[in-house]
Amino acid sequence: MKYTFSECVNSFRSSAIRDLMSLATRNDIISFAGGMPGNELFPVEKLRILTDNLTRTQWEEALQYGATGGNPGLLAELKNWLKKRGFPVETNELIITTGSLQALNIIGKLFINPNDVVLTENPVFIGGVSAFLSYQAKIVGVDLDSDGIDIEQLKEAIKLNPKFLYITPNFHNPAGLVYSRERREQLLEVMHGTEIPIIEDDAYGELYFDEKSYQTSRPMKTWADAEMDSQILYTGSFSKILGPGLRLAWALVPKEIYDKMSICKQSIDACSPTISQVIAQQFMASGEIDKYILEVREIYRQRRDCMLAAIEKYLPKEVTFVKPQGGFYLWLKMPQGVDEEVLFKKVVERGAVFVLGSVFHPNAEKNGYIRVSYCNTPENQIEKGIKIIGEALHELL
Ligand SMILES: Cc1ncc(COP(=O)(O)O)c(C=O)c1O
Repeated sequence: MKYTFSECVNSFRSSAIRDLMSLATRNDIISFAGGMPGNELFPVEKLRILTDNLTRTQWEEALQYGATGGNPGLLAELKNWLKKRGFPVETNELIITTGSLQALNIIGKLFINPNDVVLTENPVFIGGVSAFLSYQAKIVGVDLDSDGIDIEQLKEAIKLNPKFLYITPNFHNPAGLVYSRERREQLLEVMHGTEIPIIEDDAYGELYFDEKSYQTSRPMKTWADAEMDSQILYTGSFSKILGPGLRLAWALVPKEIYDKMSICKQSIDACSPTISQVIAQQFMASGEIDKYILEVREIYRQRRDCMLAAIEKYLPKEVTFVKPQGGFYLWLKMPQGVDEEVLFKKVVERGAVFVLGSVFHPNAEKNGYIRVSYCNTPENQIEKGIKIIGEALHELL
């Protein structure tokens, strides 16, 4: 049987990187590759108690289809929670989605015709790019520096008449950086009046490590004026603050966008998992969510510190990076002359693994970077793994 696949399927990324990653399937390997919470950090006991106490009616709701926009109980809790954080919940609509990846996918479906330009950052969260490619977007990457998106490049890029701009200003995946307040203001100034929607992906927004990064990381959606607010489509997620297995996230968007998103969503999955929504609602209503976020923030901060100390100890000085103020990732620029793919093979042979920077390039180009995550590796393993990378690097230099 010869299958004739659609053009969009054929445009999906080649599997070269996946082939390399498949080298790293040994279960004794120290992995800095995952972008997920450590399993040991999940609030299992708290959730067990909450689910044990569910009534018959709550279980019925949990097992039934729900409203496309989300269960009213969860929407009410989430609205309250977002309101306390300064989000304009009264003048926007909130929709629950099956992961924020689904929100990005639906937004892609709403705006993209084949060959339309979509602006992303470079580097970029590759899940977003794949979602947009599935509608045959032409992806144009705008470079990042340590303060955020490059404003001069952005000014040029908007001349390409893009359908939207997709950005992750907080604790970027993979770049680990947080946009400065000044850069956010400049971005809004450039975008003002263009009628180009801004997709503000805030999957890591709650995971700031100190008061200063909390202040810097206030989402644009919370402080933009009313006119700019109508240009911002904000997405948040339970994946990093409860558990990605729930597949639960949200988008806070203007009313016209909400109406179109919910029609789209009806044809995709009718509703997000109601059982996950009941669990998330209980987690929020009990106040456990805020306690849990405090706990994991501290653990991720300690893991970051541990990784920074190991880098200082074991990696050559020529490796440069922006110190992450929150989130999961360190984005390391390799010294000149080091081929990151050769490094990858050496590191895997020795028992550790990271992700090659090209995975996060909008057009999959090699860029001389690697991403190491500290989120899901216990501290005693972090030092060992970084030492392995250091030894391999010294050998290559
Ligand atoms: C920047 C960014 N956005 C969105 C997502 C997707 O998250 P979700 O599990 O909510 O689909 C991720 C996952 O790693 C991410 O890094």
